[in-house]
Amino acid sequence: MIMLSLPLGSYLGSELSRFLGLQNVEVIHKVFPDGETYLRIPSLTLGKHVMLIQTMFPEQDRRIVELLYVVETLKSKGVKHVYAAIPYLAYSRQDKEFLEGEVVSVNSLLRLLRCAGLERIFVVDLHSEVTLREFEGFIENLIPVKTFVKYLSKYVRGDFLIVAPDVGALKRVKPLSEALNIDYIVINKFRDRVTGQVVHELPSNVDVKNKKVVIVDDIISTGGTIANIASYFRRLGVDEIHILASHGLFVGNALEKLIASGVTHITVLNTTGVKVTHDMVSYLDISEELADFIKEKLPLNE
Ligand code: R5P
Repeated sequence: MIMLSLPLGSYLGSELSRFLGLQNVEVIHKVFPDGETYLRIPSLTLGKHVMLIQTMFPEQDRRIVELLYVVETLKSKGVKHVYAAIPYLAYSRQDKEFLEGEVVSVNSLLRLLRCAGLERIFVVDLHSEVTLREFEGFIENLIPVKTFVKYLSKYVRGDFLIVAPDVGALKRVKPLSEALNIDYIVINKFRDRVTGQVVHELPSNVDVKNKKVVIVDDIISTGGTIANIASYFRRLGVDEIHILASHGLFVGNALEKLIASGVTHITVLNTTGVKVTHDMVSYLDISEELADFIKEKLPLNE
């Protein structure tokens, strides 16, 4: 097997292939003046097995097209097994028909990837359990507990609380709490059906005054969710508010919003092609844990 890095995978491709013990080859690419995508796959990739690496933010739609074209080309040239590591899977939050007639984008995307010839994909911290169930056997989802625990164990002590911003976040918060032996709390999330406004509220028996918290979520997009909770925690007298998330999209003025809300520090994985340079933001490398996860799921010696 060899690894083939697509345009937005190459920043992770060399590290990931090193941990996987695979040769890494880069897809040659450019954008034509009219905006169309040009791709060329070096011929040495035409073995039996290929592992692609491509992430899907920013420019989600372009990244998807690149991946579809490369998979289809490899299959049409006779590559038998094509897999992909996709650290950030775009559209994962559009996982239901919220309004009648809406496209369930993540389902369409996954079916297209499968139709193009992908056999299995390896993603990091997928947003939706519904998607996971629907595409069981096609998606392998890594919850990055090892990387998170290694990082948190450096500074998180007994005076900390781990916070799940909603019930969905429990799947990553519970194992962290167990591994670090630190208590966790879950925030109740209410949506006002009329205004659409989201309100966060702590269970009544929880006191966070003078505590330090680490809020663990999957995605920071506009920063609204975390900023909302951080402002609420500040009003309740929380001492330090650390943020740990898998995917940092930092759309628009997300960082300014988070800083203004009173967060102490933000740490995210390097699952997207966005790299914010600021004292308040740190990045953790996911390549080793992702490589171990892929090795566990797939025989690589062919
Ligand atoms: C919500 O269910 C997700 O887990 C994230 O909390 C949310 O998508 C973050 O988005 P934003 O940063 O725009 O609030």
